[in-house]
Amino acid sequence: MENIILTGDRPTGRLHLGHYVGSIKNRVDLQNSNKFDKIYIMIADAQALTDNFTNPSKVRENVIEVALDYLSCGIDPNKTTIFIQSEVSELTELTFYYMNLVTLSRLQRNPTVKNELILRNFEKSIPVGFLNYPISQAADITAFDATCIPVGIDQLPMIEQTREIVHSFNNIYGKTLVMPEAHISNKENERRLPGTDGKNKMSKSLGNCIYLSDDEKTIKQKVMSMYTDPNHIRVEDPGKVEGNIVFVYLDVFATDDDFKKYLPEYKNLNELKEHYQRGGLGDVTIKKFLNNILQERLKPIREKREELEKNIEYVYKVLEEGTKEARKHAKKTLDKVKTAMKINYFESEEFLKEIIDKYQDK
Ligand code: TRP
Repeated sequence: MENIILTGDRPTGRLHLGHYVGSIKNRVDLQNSNKFDKIYIMIADAQALTDNFTNPSKVRENVIEVALDYLSCGIDPNKTTIFIQSEVSELTELTFYYMNLVTLSRLQRNPTVKNELILRNFEKSIPVGFLNYPISQAADITAFDATCIPVGIDQLPMIEQTREIVHSFNNIYGKTLVMPEAHISNKENERRLPGTDGKNKMSKSLGNCIYLSDDEKTIKQKVMSMYTDPNHIRVEDPGKVEGNIVFVYLDVFATDDDFKKYLPEYKNLNELKEHYQRGGLGDVTIKKFLNNILQERLKPIREKREELEKNIEYVYKVLEEGTKEARKHAKKTLDKVKTAMKINYFESEEFLKEIIDKYQDK
């Protein structure tokens, strides 16, 4: 069996540091490991429309933003097929057949859906399209025979639901679909990066993001106003590192080399933490240190983006070519599915033979 990756994002905004740490970096590493036979990254515009259907321009505009973010982070179109979901109509068809395999209460029990229904105030009148999106996600995954789905932890219930659909389909119609597995970062603190305000999650709607495309000044300003320890008022006060966003980020980003380069008074993060906890270390020092690190990490991404923005037709071509290729694969799976379900009337001689056998000799 081939080793195939499929993953994707909804194009509802530019990608931020939370996306980068929680999934994009992981995807680039997987891509460059050369361990996979095929890698697909999907811009999930159809899924984005399930809760933005009144604002299609927002989705349309962000298709190219997300593509730019992918390419600037090191997703390489020679190794990875990037495509637009709605342009692969086979996915919608697969969704329709999978809908038979899932109950309403199962969808309503999906923890990610449950959470999103509350966030979007959909509880009283739930659009069917929105509730259905886990099924469409199963179509995305199975259409490409994907075995490995690198996602953030909030997506685990989606993969679980896909696995149930695969199981059920194969049980009823014979082994057709490939069983996928989620792949999440093995570093606990990278799985969910909190927002700059200390809230649980970096999210556009909370306004607490550092975007991959933010300029130097904006990054600095966001770092300098980060949430730290509200009780650490004077430099001499002992400070807390737990829940202190600067330290949470340093845990993710700072290496011993960064200390050599930007803060040689300390050997490593433990020494810095100890000093902060003892008292005598001000927030400005740690924020400046974090700023230096983030600037260094984000600069090449931003510069690559600027270069690509000047060559936007190339990005368009990457999407066009990728989508063409993705369609071919999805078409093959759809054919297999329809054959398994016995709804392939004109694809082979079989149906004709059956009816002839049945009626000719009467
Ligand atoms: N639901 C994912 C998100 O919100 C996007 C997505 C759509 C996806 N289809 C997928 C992710 C298939 C992984 C596999 O980010």
